[in-house]
Amino acid sequence: MNSIIINPVSSVRGEITVPGDKSISHRSIMLGAIANGVTTVTGFLRGEDNMATMRAFRAMGVEIDDDGITLSIHGRGLHGLKEPADVIDCGNSGTTIRLISGLLAGQSFFSVVTGDQYLRKRPMKRVVEPLARMGASIMGRQKGTLAPLAITGCALNPIGYDSPVSSAQIKSAIMLAGLYAGGETSVREPSLSRDHSERMFRLFGASLDIFQTGVTVRGGVELQAQEITVPGDISSAAFLIVAALITPGSELLIKNVGVNPTRTGVIDILRSMGGSIQLLEERVVSGEPVADLMVRSSRLKGVAISGSVVPRAIDEFPAVCIAAACAEGVTIIQDARELRVKETDRIAAMASNLLRMGVSVEEREDGMEITGVECLLGGEMESFGDHRIAMSLSVAGLVAKGGIKVNDIDCVATSFPSFFTLLEKVAER
Ligand code: S3P
Repeated sequence: MNSIIINPVSSVRGEITVPGDKSISHRSIMLGAIANGVTTVTGFLRGEDNMATMRAFRAMGVEIDDDGITLSIHGRGLHGLKEPADVIDCGNSGTTIRLISGLLAGQSFFSVVTGDQYLRKRPMKRVVEPLARMGASIMGRQKGTLAPLAITGCALNPIGYDSPVSSAQIKSAIMLAGLYAGGETSVREPSLSRDHSERMFRLFGASLDIFQTGVTVRGGVELQAQEITVPGDISSAAFLIVAALITPGSELLIKNVGVNPTRTGVIDILRSMGGSIQLLEERVVSGEPVADLMVRSSRLKGVAISGSVVPRAIDEFPAVCIAAACAEGVTIIQDARELRVKETDRIAAMASNLLRMGVSVEEREDGMEITGVECLLGGEMESFGDHRIAMSLSVAGLVAKGGIKVNDIDCVATSFPSFFTLLEKVAER
């Protein structure tokens, strides 16, 4: 297991781009694979999670060419996937396993999906249960609640599903299954989670109605190949945004970042803390809002975070925790129970690391209370095998007295393989 030492810097400056959006990259392969014609994708994120999705579809007979810049996905139509000859390994990727489970439920073949030691602990009942209501036959460990999942594809019935949690993975799994159900399948969620599936379904010509906190998909409609340009991932940009905010004298331009309103919770939160983040050159690319972000170091103050902003910033809480630790006053995070079932329990993971940095933290079941300090203490920190924890701790190292050693950093490759190179590029000593 590799580790890295990040030492304090004087500022963070320059102009960068971050790699492609992970969520959009997954969906471009999935929809490309079941569309008619050749879908091209530029800006695809070649992180381990997305490569797991690519391998899964290749294993189902989908030809995918990669010239290093553009992916060409030779779509096989709605009913053209082939039975995979082996178990599909989704690695660390929750999006891969949950979304393809929805897709596989409606196929005319048998498949098994699994993942790494972390993924095999994450809850699968949230997709297995609604898919079973559609008539899917899915078995798994612990009464079908944990991977590996064995899926015997069959004809599906449409359902109207009220999801107890706001989750794009649940919503998207049901939407994909809905393509194979006769009639109208609807999903509603307590508040809107990321809507990349809705946008991409529409782009590919699916028949769907979008309402305030839900979507209806009509089954049996063939999809048409598209040319997709994937914007930079705001979840990756978030680490560099926080790096620039907390380091004095910083000015960082991050170009070509996806700013879909269902993903910009982190910008809203950091701005409410006093962060200077400007959106420049706003535009729409492949149905997704995109902008350049100008970030300048700022004096941050603690805030209360709860409600509908939480799903709009769900992956950014580890980075927000570092901002809160450097802010004046108390930051309270509520309604964020979902953080306990991410790649690791992110509430426990961030609390234990922040305590080591001399920050006073109180863990709550659905969040935490963080009291900012004048100066973070350095030392040895643990990623718990979670990419976003590893990157957040590294950002803290830029300002922590004596620097921070982050253990177990290989996981960073799941979403942001070039993270340490980019951090080095913008760090001024
Ligand atoms: C994702 C949805 C989110 C997010 C994950 C990616 C997606 O999970 O945490 O990193 O691509 O649909 P939930 O939908 O379960 O909150």
